[in-house]
Amino acid sequence: MDKPKVVLGVSGGIAAYKACELLRRLTESGHDVRVVPTASALHFVGAATWSALSGNPVSTEVWDAVHEVPHVRIGQHADLVVVAPATADMLAKAAHGLADDLLTNTLLTARCPVVFAPAMHTEMWEHPATQENVATLRRRGAVVIEPAVGRLTGVDTGKGRLPDPAEIFEICRRVLARGVREPDLAGRHVVVSAGGTREPLDPVRFLGNRSSGKQGYALARTAAARGARVTLVAANTHLPDPAGVDVVPVGTAVQMREAVLKAAADADAVVMAAAVADFRPSEYAAGKIKKKDGQEPEPLVLVRNPDILAEISADRARAGQVIVGFAAETDDVLANGRAKLARKGCDLLVVNEVGERKTFGSEENEAVVLGADGSETPVPYGPKEALAETVWDLVADRMS
Ligand code: CTP
Repeated sequence: MDKPKVVLGVSGGIAAYKACELLRRLTESGHDVRVVPTASALHFVGAATWSALSGNPVSTEVWDAVHEVPHVRIGQHADLVVVAPATADMLAKAAHGLADDLLTNTLLTARCPVVFAPAMHTEMWEHPATQENVATLRRRGAVVIEPAVGRLTGVDTGKGRLPDPAEIFEICRRVLARGVREPDLAGRHVVVSAGGTREPLDPVRFLGNRSSGKQGYALARTAAARGARVTLVAANTHLPDPAGVDVVPVGTAVQMREAVLKAAADADAVVMAAAVADFRPSEYAAGKIKKKDGQEPEPLVLVRNPDILAEISADRARAGQVIVGFAAETDDVLANGRAKLARKGCDLLVVNEVGERKTFGSEENEAVVLGADGSETPVPYGPKEALAETVWDLVADRMS
């Protein structure tokens, strides 16, 4: 089978050097990559680097190898075009259909999915002109990844950083795997919770669980690749921020409730993939609890935590909001799942069987998605991202 053809467009920003890593990841995972830099991009990284890393010729203008009609052919034959970094100028040109170099010509001839990873100073990103251009591109079906927040070129920090190349690569991989131009979650805001809450006993100890957060991160990443604005409420995870996702870190169930309710206010869907502790210690000791010689330990008194899933399902922030829960069961998986779906009042419940070596921390998952409408969708053993795609398919079907 032919290698998937990817066009990596690079426009003139300092983050161009990070596109070298994206290029490496793409080529090493079996993609045929044609790098199309702008003339300004070559001020940051030279053509020799792009050519050596991609194994393909590099040009910025339509006048090289004219007999091959590159201004049309490169775009026509691409399976994916990703522009990283995309400067404010590049977004403006793309939104307005300008075609004054090879990359802008390629963008006009491409009929495959297009991903833009913008990087610029915060002021430029926030400017209404840029925001309108981004909205135009999204409306036309492009995936425009939200920039990350952090250190910018100079001493200043803010929104505008290019997301981690490894995470841009993940978006490209998901978009290529779906192979459709229309991102079906474009214009939607989705909230995903991930990880496991920790309920502190004292400054050094907590009650916790073994959730890694990987399923929730896979959900966030796939939703972003399908064009959604994503808020990820993450409890005690140690995973890199998915590209374009707004990550809200929390610790306890009570903090998670607050963050989820806030984000859910304008959300089209909420997926509770986090393992939320049902109970917390009734008291928090401000100082470390000490053992006392010759004395048995005090019994631990627990109180109930709020049930976030049940609460947001019973009191929907928006009409038509789709709510998804997860259930980890060890026995009577389907019967327990049905009962839990009814008890929680959500629209969909992803039920998986857990055990010592199953699900926690692994890259794979196997589940059945139960619908409040009686539907039952089995998802065979496979990557957590495959389960995530199925969840979003079912959510998209139910969104008004
Ligand atoms: N959940 C929640 N708030 C809680 C506990 C759980 O929002 N306090 C959510 C989880 O994020 C998950 C779903 O509810 O989506 C199922 O959680 P689970 O703990 O399996 O369900 P329980 O009702 O606690 O049932 P069990 O008796 O099996 O513990």
